Amino acid sequence: MNLPPKTETDEVICQCYQVTESTIRKAIAAECLNDIDSVTKACEAGGGCHSCHILLQLFIDQYQEKTTAMEDLVHDHAQKVKKKGILSRFFNKFQGE
Ligand code: FES
Repeated sequence: MNLPPKTETDEVICQCYQVTESTIRKAIAAECLNDIDSVTKACEAGGGCHSCHILLQLFIDQYQEKTTAMEDLVHDHAQKVKKKGILSRFFNKFQGE
């Protein structure tokens, strides 16, 4: 499975620091960020429980136009998820697209 398409909504992705998707995507684009630590330094997203790291990596990969398989992202980051609601809401948005 390939990555879901970019979204036009502005949902809070990092619940710990209340950082929205647009803020994260703008930070990645403005500074050509290529890892989660850089995103955290730029906008604080990902600096708490790490549950949003899978989505931060997804946004980085999309910006770099990588075709990362969703299964690989889940394999690498799912163990960090402590706040279950974040991912279920996100992935539900892409069902049927
Ligand atoms: S939800 Fe982003 S660090 Fe906790």
